[in-house]
Amino acid sequence: MCGIVGYIGYQDVKEILLRGLEKLEYRGYDSAGIAVLNDEGIHLFKEKGRIADLRNVVDPTVSASIGIGHTRWATHGAPSRVNAHPHQSASGRFTLVHNGVIENYAILKREYLQDVAFRSDTDTEVIVQLVEKFVNDGLSVEEAFRKTLTLLKGSYAIAMIDAENQEVIYVAKNKSPLLVGLGHGFNVVASDAMAMLQVTNQFVELMDKEMVIVTSEDITIKTLNGDIVQRAPYTAELDASDIEKGTYPHYMLKEIDEQPFVMRRIIQKYQDENGQLTIDPQIIQEVLNADRIYIIACGTSYHAGLVGKQLIEKWAKIPVEVHVASEFSYNMPLLSEKPLFIYISQSGETADSRAVLVQTNNLGYKAITITNVPGSTLSREADYTLLLHAGPEIAVASTKAYTAQIAVLAILAVATAKAKGIELDFDLVKELAIVANVMEMLCDAKEEMEKIAREYLAVTRNCFFIGRAVDYYVCLEGALKLKEISYIQAEGFAGGELKHGTIALIEDGTPVIALATQEHVNLSIRGNVKEVVARGANPCIISMRGLETEEDRFVIPAVHPMLTPLVSVVPLQLIAYYAALHRGCDVDKPRNLAKSVTVE
Ligand code: G6P
Repeated sequence: MCGIVGYIGYQDVKEILLRGLEKLEYRGYDSAGIAVLNDEGIHLFKEKGRIADLRNVVDPTVSASIGIGHTRWATHGAPSRVNAHPHQSASGRFTLVHNGVIENYAILKREYLQDVAFRSDTDTEVIVQLVEKFVNDGLSVEEAFRKTLTLLKGSYAIAMIDAENQEVIYVAKNKSPLLVGLGHGFNVVASDAMAMLQVTNQFVELMDKEMVIVTSEDITIKTLNGDIVQRAPYTAELDASDIEKGTYPHYMLKEIDEQPFVMRRIIQKYQDENGQLTIDPQIIQEVLNADRIYIIACGTSYHAGLVGKQLIEKWAKIPVEVHVASEFSYNMPLLSEKPLFIYISQSGETADSRAVLVQTNNLGYKAITITNVPGSTLSREADYTLLLHAGPEIAVASTKAYTAQIAVLAILAVATAKAKGIELDFDLVKELAIVANVMEMLCDAKEEMEKIAREYLAVTRNCFFIGRAVDYYVCLEGALKLKEISYIQAEGFAGGELKHGTIALIEDGTPVIALATQEHVNLSIRGNVKEVVARGANPCIISMRGLETEEDRFVIPAVHPMLTPLVSVVPLQLIAYYAALHRGCDVDKPRNLAKSVTVE
């Protein structure tokens, strides 16, 4: 959350920063700002709202070739122009952008900055005021910057410019993501490579507690002790078309439609030369060594974890627990003797999940991260990584990452079963290929999904999703999608549980979307539908071919019964999309949310 960009070189910086920030809007979009520096000094432009709003206040006549920018997801201080970054020191000499949370900002303010008049309510301002204080005390800017960093507790990605020096951007990182990008005659800074692909695809990763002196010709990475660190750049393998909407009205719709392709790419990436699905033997060995797997995740990734539990337990016969990261870290259950941790995170940056990874690393337990982002924090800090290969996911509401996570978990389950000598009576390559085809058919059913959304969700305040067994987990995800982007209060329930309280909320016309893809609970879920209908609910049953009845609203072509979540979620994603569209909501950037939540 919060996105940072910076550029130093020879081109006019305004457009580079603004375009970079547009690519980072998924990280937060309640306010934004840029600061550019030229011979006249610093020019600061900030605005509440989106980058489009910021564009309106940037003076087109100012030209500069060094600058920093920020798009914000508020933590300390309400979204406002004053709280928007960049923030400046009292004299205006130093200007800084920050992503993260400074936990000890109040203490630092009290100890060092009693006499300084703060302008904003942010924790960030303390950083820039401290740098100025230490410079006033006689330190060089670099020393003051370093001293400030050593005092900070919490997470930060920082870029700072000095009005008296057009030659340097001061950069630092701890826990929050930040990259330095390399060019010829220029260098850049960005929270995500995507933001600067417009000018370079060469990036250098930064480690926690490193600072960088960035000039137009050079970058110098140092530890906080002042030791110089050498690190080779890598090529960001992102295609510009991956991060464009193309002809789609929204990223979310594009990403829903990409799911069949992602399934096929996953099959290809995890296949060996004999066409067999394969996982790094070291990872399989870790799984075999474990007596219990603990899956840790948040949001949509947690929902994928629930499905993963079924797959691993049923196919590989290893017990699995799935935990919400933010709960696990403060309320750790009694662990088994030989636990193995699997972290699922699209972004690989989610602070709640990382907090648990730090704990389990300290306890000496092995960890695998399943992520879409190679080189992300969770990937670097775990022992092993399994990549999703889903391509950048930009819409805040996660879609293709969810199905990719389930597919990778399925491959892990099958590879483990094989290593244990467990005979499975199906070929996962074939089954995933069927899934991809069915996904394609479902993506073609947009008109029908739009009709359902209009009919059931155009005016309702709430909506329930019910399912049993693995359908229940998909219901949790369907409800999350709907509430995230349409703001309809939506809840997923185990079919049998609704009657134990929540059924009191059913009124005339309350929409209840029921999933019926599981033969062994088909009759029971239909019984649960009858219960809600008897109380006035408006039911929408989505079933699987072979289990359908006349009352069903939509029937999904059949896939392997354990893989139904990969396809049954698609109609729910599309229904949520159209419901949000009909209600005039901003589908890709829903209110109050951010895609990458890098604060606890
Ligand atoms: C945020 C996003 C959710 C996402 C969750 C976990 O809350 O808004 O869509 O599911 O973070 O993100 P991760 O990147 O760890 O999968």
